[in-house]
Amino acid sequence: MRKLFVAGNWKMNLDREQSLVLAGQLRSEAGGLEDITVAVCPPFVYLKGIADVLKDTGIGVGGQNMHTESSGAFTGEVSGGMLRDAGCEYVIIGHSERRHIFGESDEFIAEKVKKALSEGLKPIVCVGETLEQRKNEETQKTVSRQFESALQYVDKDDMAAVTIAYEPVWAIGTGRTATPQQADDVHALIRSLAGDFFDPEVAEGLIIQYGGSVKPENAADLLGKENVDGALVGGASLTAADFLQIIEAGRTNAKS
Ligand code: PGA
Repeated sequence: MRKLFVAGNWKMNLDREQSLVLAGQLRSEAGGLEDITVAVCPPFVYLKGIADVLKDTGIGVGGQNMHTESSGAFTGEVSGGMLRDAGCEYVIIGHSERRHIFGESDEFIAEKVKKALSEGLKPIVCVGETLEQRKNEETQKTVSRQFESALQYVDKDDMAAVTIAYEPVWAIGTGRTATPQQADDVHALIRSLAGDFFDPEVAEGLIIQYGGSVKPENAADLLGKENVDGALVGGASLTAADFLQIIEAGRTNAKS
């Protein structure tokens, strides 16, 4: 049976009440979660409330970002320890919006991945090329650089806790999805990088999610690809019905 992981990235969306309603719907309607790993990543301020609602459901909770330090004078930042304290198991690191809007460097992302692991969090590490890089045939080069940099401080033994999310920047929030073949090609590249950088066992066990306009209509085709082990879902994770259908597409593929 394939291991699959579907995570919802709520970004800066939903108010407190809407968040709790959505978590409540997931709690009552998501079934069969023994076949698939599922998590949601709400904004920081709602993490504890959502973690309480989802306790014992099998649906994990993650932060959308964290800082490299444990504490200190870093106004506006949140530490990995604080995320754990709020009930998080996961943390998204190096999302393209963090890289491009907030100027996070490859080195800063690498430090965050290391810190997340030392805090006992499971990082979901995002990589992906811009449209210009794809047009210039720099996808391989960009994804390889981001992968190798982000994982430079990670020991092979810690890789079981790491998920990679391939999110082509041109597909995020645009309604434009990579074709299943385009996704699978880059996922295969990432798997081979993991083999070279760590070893074949790490490559084989690595969960590589696809992200970028994943919807109920395209989830089954994407998740049906050999190297696509899950999805990091933005917009479609804000509606219980859509997110549940994507989870269901994952479950069907996990069993096949
Ligand atoms: P999207 O976002 O599904 O809304 O394109 C995905 C992501 O940014 O993680």
